[in-house]
Amino acid sequence: MIHAAAADPERRLSPVVRLAPAKLNLTLAVLGRRADGFHDLHSVMVPLALADRLTLAIAPGGRDSLHVEGRDAGPIADNLVLQAIAAARVAVRRVSGPDAGPPLAVRLEKRIPVAAGLGGGSSDAAAALEGALEAWGEHLPAAERLTIAAGLGSDVPFFLADRPALVEGRGERVSPLRTLRGEPPAVLLITPAIALSTPAVFAAYAAGARPAVPGSARATSQHLAAELDGGLRGAALLDRAAILAAANDLQPAAAAVAPGLVAFRRALFRRLGQPVGQTGSGPTLWVLYAALDEAEAAADSVLAGLADGSVPRLGSDDAAVIATTIARPGLRPDPTAAGSGATPVQPAQGGEG
Ligand code: C5P
Repeated sequence: MIHAAAADPERRLSPVVRLAPAKLNLTLAVLGRRADGFHDLHSVMVPLALADRLTLAIAPGGRDSLHVEGRDAGPIADNLVLQAIAAARVAVRRVSGPDAGPPLAVRLEKRIPVAAGLGGGSSDAAAALEGALEAWGEHLPAAERLTIAAGLGSDVPFFLADRPALVEGRGERVSPLRTLRGEPPAVLLITPAIALSTPAVFAAYAAGARPAVPGSARATSQHLAAELDGGLRGAALLDRAAILAAANDLQPAAAAVAPGLVAFRRALFRRLGQPVGQTGSGPTLWVLYAALDEAEAAADSVLAGLADGSVPRLGSDDAAVIATTIARPGLRPDPTAAGSGATPVQPAQGGEG
């Protein structure tokens, strides 16, 4: 078989560029612990304009390489980008033979705070999987891409959908939802510089750190999924901000692992006068706004609060404060455009936050 990359010498010279968006859990209900130790979820997730940027080029020889710029994403060898490429290579070699899937040189521009509940590493992995296939000129059926994605991490399948979705199971069941109508709301993200490991948060949940009202997040999540399926305006999401901010079953568990989060969140609420939610297992907190300039003004207010102490400092470094928006319907942001689709009001120093 002739591979597209081999057949077209131009292809080898032009790198593939992919944006890897962050995600926001508008709802996150934990339904129960499974026999395999994972938890069954019911979560409405949306991609954000805030995105990492991956560039993949076929390398002359040797092995895959990864160069990371921007935030510290931890040891290269542990990076899901390299694991995604390796898994994609195994799959394409099964179909196209041992010469398929030549080594790739990858550059990752890291803008999404790391280990923050924003799915950055998972999104990078999904973008690496799709980007590697594109660079190689190879195709894999959607079901096989989904299996590879699920094997890389619970959040990775969502990022193959590239749109709002209801996510169930441990993350492998992804049902695309209709995109928000009208202008997508803006989002202020505040990521304190504290390490909050997902397994530790789930373990705290399993040990009993749970919401006072069981089943409430699930009801909100089911309702929102149905509303989105029926075609919801972006502005309507703002009307629901308070109930969405309360619809994350992992919030008490995150607070059990990092007790300072409770006071931090309360201080943000006092400062901004808006509901403050948590994305995923945290520690990133979110506030919805009608437009980006409002989120940017709120970001300035949070920075002033951090400076004067009315918002407590949490962790070893400054919090990352980022104004962005929910991603536009079905459109991958243009990777060739300048900027990342977000206003990094203050870049995080503590990348592991
Ligand atoms: O799949 P991923 O590597 O992201 O999961 C990290 C950890 O989070 C798992 O080892 C598990 O402890 C916990 N987890 C869970 N249920 C999920 C997703 C993650 O218990 N649905």
